[in-house]
Amino acid sequence: MSLQSSPSTPLTAPIAVLDSGVGGLTVVKALRTLLPAEDILYFGDTARVPYGNKSEPTVTAFVRQIISYLVPRQPKHLVIACNTATALALPILKREFPQLTITGVVDPGARAAAQAAGSKLTPLIGVIATEATVRCGAYNRAIHRRRSKARVIQRAAPLLVPIIEEGREESDLLVQLALQQYLEPLIAHQPDVLVLGCTHYPIFKRSIAELMGPACRVIDSAEQCAQDVARRLREAGLLRTGSLGAGLAARFTGLGGAGGSLQCLVTDDSPRFQMLAERFLEVPMAAPTLVDLSQQSPPPAPLPLRQAG
Ligand code: DGL
Repeated sequence: MSLQSSPSTPLTAPIAVLDSGVGGLTVVKALRTLLPAEDILYFGDTARVPYGNKSEPTVTAFVRQIISYLVPRQPKHLVIACNTATALALPILKREFPQLTITGVVDPGARAAAQAAGSKLTPLIGVIATEATVRCGAYNRAIHRRRSKARVIQRAAPLLVPIIEEGREESDLLVQLALQQYLEPLIAHQPDVLVLGCTHYPIFKRSIAELMGPACRVIDSAEQCAQDVARRLREAGLLRTGSLGAGLAARFTGLGGAGGSLQCLVTDDSPRFQMLAERFLEVPMAAPTLVDLSQQSPPPAPLPLRQAG
């Protein structure tokens, strides 16, 4: 679905980006490079991370609550920068919040993987993701919609999110061991493409690409998601002046100014969030704002299901 420009969607409204924790910052980083003039409102559900070991109703309820909280901020676009939440809850949440344009991570990642597989008739596409994303088969379906003959192998890597949220460096032995354990069964099959089907994983992209070897294309679902958002906003005429033309001078102060601002909201005031965000985005950041979702009223009743689209 494409975005609609309307008088109630000012160009200056922020782009809202949400995830269970710091993972969605990989999308923020890519968005800032592509669209340096845009203001970004980031929501990290740090009190309830990880989502990847939880059920569909639970993840849907968490994200519903976050979106209800963000609605009054009138974002011009909302990105579910979490594969787990996209895989489990995107269709229902799009119906429940028709006043917002909402997109996710799975389709852009699957599209890029299908393209990267090149001209092979039956390419082998690997996917690493959370347990919930693997279990619900969203990547399988999204890849097969584009490449019906592709062979897809999925592998859950449940320890990676807690390891990343703990702030372990890429060179840490535990990180290297976990990556080897999770990737070796995939490497044995020599996939043509590997999709990083969790927005936390690009934080270890260099090591993952090294382990997979040069014959395997590694697809970063976060980067693909940001490109998808940039394209949609451009097509809808919703980009701020200066947003176009790949961000050579992306300013990232968190305080506004010539570059767009970044405001971070979190549900648990862990000092780790700011430390990790600064390390990852490579800029000093304003402290995140603590949000209490317990008072959040439920969203309006869902609209009836529509056919197609
Ligand atoms: N970064 C998220 C994803 O893309 C969430 C991981 C988690 O919370 O388990 O799936």
